Amino acid sequence: MADQQKLSSRHLLGIKDLNRNDIELIFETATNFKAVLNRPIKKVPSLRDITIANIFFENSTRTRLSFELAQKRLSADTVNFAAASSSVSKGETLIDTVNNILAMKVDMVVMRHPYAGAGIFLSRHIKAQIVNAGDGAHEHPTQALLDAFSIREKYGEVSGKKVVIVGDILHSRVALSNILCLKQLGAEVMVCGPTTLIPKFIGSLGVQVEHNLQKALNWCDVANMLRIQLERQDIKYFPSLREYTMLYGLNKKILDSLDKEITVMHPGPINRGVEITSDVADSKQSIILDQVENGVAVRMAVLYLLAGQMS
Ligand code: CP
Repeated sequence: MADQQKLSSRHLLGIKDLNRNDIELIFETATNFKAVLNRPIKKVPSLRDITIANIFFENSTRTRLSFELAQKRLSADTVNFAAASSSVSKGETLIDTVNNILAMKVDMVVMRHPYAGAGIFLSRHIKAQIVNAGDGAHEHPTQALLDAFSIREKYGEVSGKKVVIVGDILHSRVALSNILCLKQLGAEVMVCGPTTLIPKFIGSLGVQVEHNLQKALNWCDVANMLRIQLERQDIKYFPSLREYTMLYGLNKKILDSLDKEITVMHPGPINRGVEITSDVADSKQSIILDQVENGVAVRMAVLYLLAGQMS
């Protein structure tokens, strides 16, 4: 990994910060790290002088563990902070919390927060580099990178591929980051779901809109099935989960009725039997666990390249 090339951004706050060269550099670097992860000794000393704090103000399984593993594989020192068991519950502000963590000589912060723009706000007030691990319904850049990396791994390239994102587009940070990333890489993108769960501005991002799941699946090479984000819904957007599943759930019967073998993706966590049935999630057309595996290599690449920006 000598002669390191640089990303154009000091932080990773969203896919908005990245150009196509940045994304391709992350993929090239992730490919090298994936080879490391398949060796008997899965560790490199690249970040042994770096300390990273993972601060999570919202629940996470995949992202938190994946970042932590990526940091350990790069030999970084890591500290983990979960808001529920911290002094945030005693009224401490975000800036005070993070500045206290930074006073302990932390170089980089990986943050998940329920509010859109929390990472952008923090990057204007503290000196450390920030990696957004999901901010409200705004962006989840590393998820989009690992999703696109997994499509590239499956098909050799992302350009020209037809990807439909199905479900709760309105409340999904995964959807926005995926759209921005896939469009940068030259994919065709469609969103599919009930009218109430598709934001009105979506056409301005250059994506197609389809409300009929069967038509969307007939069109695509890849279907990325999203969870209904009930925790972000303040009103009812559809009559019942049962009706949603009947209209937008992906089951084996629909999958087998298509005249081509599409690839099925899901960012997790899955609600089996709602947006996707178990036999689809566990089928050979599903690359859901490949996405999780690739997440570690992609996050290693992001952390490694951002560390190269430190002055
Ligand atoms: N995909 C994803 O962000 O999962 P977690 O919420 O478990 O991190």
